[in-house]
Amino acid sequence: MPELLSVQQAEELDVGQVHEMYRRYINRSQVTLMTSFGFGWELVDHAEGAYLYLRDGRKVLDITGGVGVLNHGHNHPRILAARMRFQERRRMEVHKTYFSPYLAALGHNLAQVLPGDLTRSFLPNSGAEAVENAVKLAYKYHGGRRNTILRADISFHGKLLGSGGLTGSAQHRFSYPTIPGIVTFRYDDLDSVRAAVRAHRKDVYALIVEPFSASTMQWCSEEFLRGVRELCTEEDIVLIFDEIYTGWGKTGSLFYFMRYPGLVPDVLTTSKSFGGGKSSISAYIAREPIFRKAYDNLADAMVQSTSTTYYGFGEETATAIEAINIAIEDDYPARARALERVLGPGLERLQKKYPDEIADVRGCGALWGVFLSGGPRLLDLAGKLSPLRDPQLRPKLVACAVIDALYRDHDIYAYYTLNGRSPMVIGPPLVAEPEEMERVLDALDAVLAQGMPRLLTRFIRERVSSLW
Ligand SMILES: Cc1ncc(COP(=O)(O)O)c(C=O)c1O
Repeated sequence: MPELLSVQQAEELDVGQVHEMYRRYINRSQVTLMTSFGFGWELVDHAEGAYLYLRDGRKVLDITGGVGVLNHGHNHPRILAARMRFQERRRMEVHKTYFSPYLAALGHNLAQVLPGDLTRSFLPNSGAEAVENAVKLAYKYHGGRRNTILRADISFHGKLLGSGGLTGSAQHRFSYPTIPGIVTFRYDDLDSVRAAVRAHRKDVYALIVEPFSASTMQWCSEEFLRGVRELCTEEDIVLIFDEIYTGWGKTGSLFYFMRYPGLVPDVLTTSKSFGGGKSSISAYIAREPIFRKAYDNLADAMVQSTSTTYYGFGEETATAIEAINIAIEDDYPARARALERVLGPGLERLQKKYPDEIADVRGCGALWGVFLSGGPRLLDLAGKLSPLRDPQLRPKLVACAVIDALYRDHDIYAYYTLNGRSPMVIGPPLVAEPEEMERVLDALDAVLAQGMPRLLTRFIRERVSSLW
């Protein structure tokens, strides 16, 4: 008999044993890298709402928002109840030849909350799958006669072969093969889109863009979004808005693009908080005429639903139904705006107070990037010489030093993005209260008051020195 661990034994592993098993069975370097940057030294016992409860008894305010997954916070009681209801009634998880009432209701809900004729849903699991299926839909819409797809130089669309190729912001030095025909335009620059369309006249089948780029904290102007909408309509190009991160209220409107009345993409992608923080489910939602032309015929009717085993599973879809109901009933966009009213002016105040430490603050709703600066230039050279070969090491170290101090001294957990200028992200769940954001601002104030040299020295001495 193989010596297998039970779930209970897994729960009883200590942090040292977990690291050791990661080293042996997952990835040795992942453990070295994470722990060297101050992460991964404790295990979480449980999580509820905006808080993590660590094994050592600490209660940590989680302002990462689960990188977009946790608008509902950890283990929202209504999400848990919906899942338990599904389990207690022994509902069926999967069968392709029985229709699912949950899938039907979820499709209905999506059509109710989205504008225009965005009514046809496809429901795989990850964001990258939603993106790639949206691209396939656009390609099929044109019957394979067009071969160019436009993407922005600033973009993150996932890491599979297709979505990874569509991702314009280089996060990794290694490039994988991808789909053909990818052409880049400058983010938020309509002339650049026009030029790309002109250069590939009648060959562009789709344009994909994030109206708000959560990994860089940049966003498209209303003029740009309405301009691409008009251009795509004129040229019969399928316009895809990727709101996988920014959906379900995060930026202060249900989806970022919905702050502009009458603006409707041809396809919208969503994931992350769509699953209520519990289920891995994503979706594209297409305008009815686009979907009808691509797949609504007997020959192609099963193409989408058979494109993955994990399509519209029972408990995932039941969870997403509840997630949408909560986001609407509890008015998540309004909750994000309430957090913005504290974070916006508060972060601006801190930027004025610490001009050397905070180069920039950008964001809206419950999604803010704090672009930290400072630290000796020597670190740029050290970055290039380190085993990481990372010219961005200085901004990353500066962000990590601040994140580490917030975590260790104030029990607040933030993160930074690997894209662009690596801002520290304050992206609390929408169940967090404005008073908790006051606490975050006070803590950040206290951390920055120590000065970057001191923060960096402590961080490098206690956390990073093992890298060299
Ligand atoms: C805008 C956007 N698109 C696509 C993705 C990819 O989603 P996933 O990681 O679930 O494949 C992400 C993930 O962060 C994202 O933020």
